[in-house]
Amino acid sequence: MNNQKRNLKVSAPGKIILSGEHAVVHGYPALLTAVNLRLSIKNEVIHSDIPVGGGMGSSAAYAVAKSAYKQAEKGEVWDLEKINKEAYEIEKRQHGNPSGGDNTVSTYGGFLWYRKESENLKVFTKLKTPKSMPRFLIINTGKPNESTGEMIAFVKTRLQAKKREIESTFRNIEQVTKSLLEYLVEGKNYDLKELIKENEELLEDLGVVSKKAKEIIKLVEGAGGGAKVSGAGGIKDGSGVILAYHANMDKLIKVSRAKKLNTFSVKLGQEGVRLERV
Ligand code: MEV
Repeated sequence: MNNQKRNLKVSAPGKIILSGEHAVVHGYPALLTAVNLRLSIKNEVIHSDIPVGGGMGSSAAYAVAKSAYKQAEKGEVWDLEKINKEAYEIEKRQHGNPSGGDNTVSTYGGFLWYRKESENLKVFTKLKTPKSMPRFLIINTGKPNESTGEMIAFVKTRLQAKKREIESTFRNIEQVTKSLLEYLVEGKNYDLKELIKENEELLEDLGVVSKKAKEIIKLVEGAGGGAKVSGAGGIKDGSGVILAYHANMDKLIKVSRAKKLNTFSVKLGQEGVRLERV
């Protein structure tokens, strides 16, 4: 291995989905943001701060970092579009029919409005950094038993069995996603807690929230906050991470400590894939 290769290191961020998970697989929009937990590859050893299988995009960050590493290793021009395309192919092998949102936000970073119109047309816009950055507490409800691919397949089966009902849920999710966009980008006066709660109810209607996660969400609501699953969710055990919001964050932290919940905070709107200096 020459020196240049020995010193090659790339990193890609994890993500959270603010709104639109699952619906985004079926052509509805999603709002995603890159976070300050990263996965890096150096000399083919992998290091990651992103919880695995928790809804924070660890597999997408791996796919993005891997394709970026390959590109850099070959000495090719740094090409985000190419990195993203290749990462999407890796994600497809892993999850069957993903939307491509996770790898796109891990590639480009920031806040993204994302929509998969068809397999070959995926549109996204990088949003301006919100004037007032929402502050969430991330609560890990536990690793789901089901993989992301299984959760995507589960929702597809429900869509096939109850087309009108599930399509109506998707449309309602789209409304929440649009309201959240207006809240973040245009500073419209929505109640963030209510949007989060509405989003959660719709995800529960889809059936992607486990009993364990629902109980934790009820605790947050009992303390005056709102919380939603972020990512694919889970059914039998945990549902991965939830985004918890409270106008008075101290109250949320207090209840989380009292109930010994596994919590952490993240910075939103972070940089996408990058070459690291080593
Ligand atoms: C997973 O992080 C998000 C899902 O919407 C799947 C996808 O977008 O590919 C559940």
